[in-house]
Amino acid sequence: MHKADIELVEMSMDVMKYAIDRLSSKKIKIGKPRKEEELKALVGETITEKGIGGEVAFNLWKKHLMKANVSIDHPRHLAFVPASPTRAAIMFDLVTSASSIHGAYWMEGAGGVFCENEAMRWIVSLTGLPKGAFGVFTSGGTAANLSAMVTARAHWRENDIYKDEKGLIITSVGAHSSIKAMAKVIDVDVFLVDTEDKLLGTELENAINSLTKQQRKRLFAVVGTGGTTNAGIIDDLGGIATICEKENLWFHVDAAYGGGALAADSVRHLFNGIEKADSITIDPHKWMFSPYDCGSVIYKNPELAKKAHSQEGSYLDIFKDEGADGFNPSDYQIQLTRRVRGLPLWFSLAMHGTNRYKQAVERGIELAQIAGKLIDESPHVELVREPSLSCVLYRRIGWTPEDYIHWTYKNHKKGFALVTPTKWKQGNVYETVSRFCFINPDTTKRDIEKILDSMH
Ligand SMILES: Cc1ncc(COP(=O)(O)O)c(C=O)c1O
Repeated sequence: MHKADIELVEMSMDVMKYAIDRLSSKKIKIGKPRKEEELKALVGETITEKGIGGEVAFNLWKKHLMKANVSIDHPRHLAFVPASPTRAAIMFDLVTSASSIHGAYWMEGAGGVFCENEAMRWIVSLTGLPKGAFGVFTSGGTAANLSAMVTARAHWRENDIYKDEKGLIITSVGAHSSIKAMAKVIDVDVFLVDTEDKLLGTELENAINSLTKQQRKRLFAVVGTGGTTNAGIIDDLGGIATICEKENLWFHVDAAYGGGALAADSVRHLFNGIEKADSITIDPHKWMFSPYDCGSVIYKNPELAKKAHSQEGSYLDIFKDEGADGFNPSDYQIQLTRRVRGLPLWFSLAMHGTNRYKQAVERGIELAQIAGKLIDESPHVELVREPSLSCVLYRRIGWTPEDYIHWTYKNHKKGFALVTPTKWKQGNVYETVSRFCFINPDTTKRDIEKILDSMH
């Protein structure tokens, strides 16, 4: 298994050919899931005592299994938060794998971590955080949000008064599901401000004033969102920062999706106030064109994260020795062993330069504006709200929730597009509507027109 022989050479050629074909193809299929029984019937037993051989296994992958995945980078995949990794980043993902780097500690991964840190410096510069702020790459936004919340609570509990208190955080209904999920993981309660629209500083203040004395004692952090997943809304980050400062609360900004737009001059002002955050989540695997998986968490004061996350063990002491000294990514988030998952981003940034990133993000924002205009001009559809960042919510006049679901499946089955419904609250009523999220700069106006046409 570990020998470099002719079989390895042949497999390498096959794998490289597959990678090149996938990367250069102008006609990638959107792909769709199949039932497990169907896949089993197609491929049979793949894990056997003797092995089925690389060629057979790879052919099963190409012929059946790959097709049962949705290509997240298809230009008409506009559901959820899609992705569109650059070719350079994908190729360097192969290099990252081939290089077998343990990315936890400088002692083992100095070259890779150096590159990650170069890319991180650019991301941090977009936030406007003060000197000394820094971050690390995580497996995604969920892990980044968790790492930030763990740091915030550990810092809060440094004060003995709070040692035995169960923590409480405030966020809004618009916050991503991972905030609530990760609060459960660390056994913290969540007070939800009942708005999916922009969370204002004044609403936060009212929420704090409505707490009981005991709840107020337990409150240690506020989570604002820099681009909600559902609608691309950016909270009043400046207003929230002011309240957090006044009330001595940790201010976390979840910009997992929207963070890429910090690079876009046309919308950068909407994030004003983010520079006052204590921690920020930004996912390069969303709007910074990295392959999965690549999130990041950034801290105004990374020393607080180190206090919360640094692992101890006699077998780890060597990493902290002066001779092995350097930046240790494991000290700042929940994972120990980690892939140097910022490396593909570094290579792509180094190759293309940051201006190309700016342009590609601006294109997503422009596509949302184009879609908004097309919707305004088409009598059978209408905007639910103005496009925000690269998200567009719109309704097909006269449709029931079932119509949206049926239309989604029909387009997906045909291999034409993947656009899924969501819900938007007007007053007290949740309405099922359609949603676009643009990430891929290869999506065209014609793609949007065709999707809208399919709603006739
Ligand atoms: C705002 C926001 N936060 C967090 C997440 C979770 O990120 P991940 O899926 O990378 O864990 C998402 C995912 O869409 C998101 O949009």
